[in-house]
Amino acid sequence: MGHIQITPSILNADFARLGEEVARIPSADWVHVDVMDNHFVPNLTFGPTMVEALARSSSVPLDAHLMIEDADRNALEYVEAGCGSVTFHVEAAKAPVRLAREIRAAGARASMALKPATPIEPYEDMLSELDMVLIMTVEPGFGGQRFLDLCLPKIRRARALMDKHGVETWLQVDGGVSLETIERCAEAGADVFVAGSAVYSAADPDKMVTALRETATA
Ligand code: DX5
Ligand code: ZN
Repeated sequence: MGHIQITPSILNADFARLGEEVARIPSADWVHVDVMDNHFVPNLTFGPTMVEALARSSSVPLDAHLMIEDADRNALEYVEAGCGSVTFHVEAAKAPVRLAREIRAAGARASMALKPATPIEPYEDMLSELDMVLIMTVEPGFGGQRFLDLCLPKIRRARALMDKHGVETWLQVDGGVSLETIERCAEAGADVFVAGSAVYSAADPDKMVTALRETATA
């Protein structure tokens, strides 16, 4: 297991002041940017131009979570935009192995996301192609949803498969992560934690980043 990392999602930040919102979380390990195309999920956010501007203004590296249908064709734009990590959804990718290799070859960490009902087992043999697996703990699309406990066994199984293969792949969770739920995720084997509303609804977002890290490490 890697060290504990906290990656606040800006989905619930003030979109009119994104640069300033990102500057409020200097203790974050990554800034999680949720790219939505209104097809893969019923919500629309921003594209590579906005992400590129954010990457230029942020001292914290960007972790792009692509909730888009045409991942095979569009993922590399986010590497070019300056993201250090790019996550595509396996339900959207037509050729996930090729896509992971292309992301790595372009110079970013390659990551693959699974919706709550998507099993990890079919992808066991491609874990070594991935720098991170993202297990969604809500149905993707919106911030502020309730954490789905039914995803915890999958986090455990994913961690066991990673141990079995001896890979260095990080295990990220995203959706409903808060001071209340982060311990359960860490105990199941997650090491990278996305938190959107928990961070941006806090009076001091950076303090919340530290509190989440401490709770996950405890
Ligand atoms: C949901 C997004 C998440 C979201 C998390 O589809 O992928 O990153 O911003 O927000 P919270 O932490 O509020 O569930
Ligand atoms: Zn996300």
